[in-house]
Amino acid sequence: MDLGLAGKVALVAAASKGLGRAIAEELAREGARVAMCSRSEAAITAAAEDIVRKTKGDVLPIAADVSTQEGCEAFAQTAAAKYGALDILVVNAGGPPPGRFDDLDDEAWRKAFELTLMSAVRLTRLALPRMRAQGGGSIVYSTSTSVRQPSQYLSLILSNALRAGVHGMLKTIATDLAREGIRVNAVQPGRIATDRLVQLDTDTARRQGTTPEAVRRRYEEQVIPMGRYGTPAEYAAVVAFLASPRASYVTGVSLQVDGGMLLSMW
Ligand SMILES: NC(=O)c1ccc[n+]([C@@H]2O[C@H](COP(=O)([O-])OP(=O)(O)OC[C@H]3O[C@@H](n4cnc5c(N)ncnc54)[C@H](OP(=O)(O)O)[C@@H]3O)[C@@H](O)[C@H]2O)c1
Repeated sequence: MDLGLAGKVALVAAASKGLGRAIAEELAREGARVAMCSRSEAAITAAAEDIVRKTKGDVLPIAADVSTQEGCEAFAQTAAAKYGALDILVVNAGGPPPGRFDDLDDEAWRKAFELTLMSAVRLTRLALPRMRAQGGGSIVYSTSTSVRQPSQYLSLILSNALRAGVHGMLKTIATDLAREGIRVNAVQPGRIATDRLVQLDTDTARRQGTTPEAVRRRYEEQVIPMGRYGTPAEYAAVVAFLASPRASYVTGVSLQVDGGMLLSMW
């Protein structure tokens, strides 16, 4: 299927590794021009160079911290200075630290709020004028299956609480923006093999007195019907489809990519 992404301009946040990097690569392979950011200039430049090597695409690395207003502005404005238009925004960020309610003070909550919810608010706000000016666009929030089943992640209360806020915003603005040709959707990773999953499995192992390998094995043998963690490329393919014009009648949707892990009806 031709996704119709050739020549489109995409912003992919938090993309030096893991899910964001895979999304940037998938979009570039499909012919989109991709601005990608992360906090480390060296890391994002190396990731962009690798993507160019693999795809021969047009990719712009930008050092920016999306947990700050200045970082979001730097990302959006640097991309605009090179590409002008904006067709696709993929909102992603690092995960807030693990922790249970009693472990976390106001400062931890404030930081997670800036990282997880405000990055989505600010990047959306920066994208909308350009999408409106060109008569449409597509926004995809990369969140987590925890928005459907937070009880599976009792040690990730910051993520559980704040990603729910992103989904509340999504369902609201998807309705508001539909007549302006701007689609707003989310994709929820379940257990996709990245450094973040190694961090989480290590934290779970410490709390349970076991090893990260045993934590992963338990998920693969007892929790995930497909019996394995997903790959970043499998995740990125779904994001690229939802972001693309081939999903032209899809908005307000939140789709899990989790090997069947969530057992709820919706
Ligand atoms: N992997 C999964 O299965 C899974 C499941 C559920 C939810 N998630 C969530 O999805 C997101 C991405 O996960 P991942 O697995 O791809 O993690 P990852 O492999 O640790 O990659 C995180 C990426 O985000 C960048 N980043 C972190 N903080 C940033 C910030 N403030 N501003 C800009 N870039 C930032 C990092 O680069 P720099 O260090 O250079 O900034 C890196 O490129 C996280 O929020 C994670 O909690 C992942």
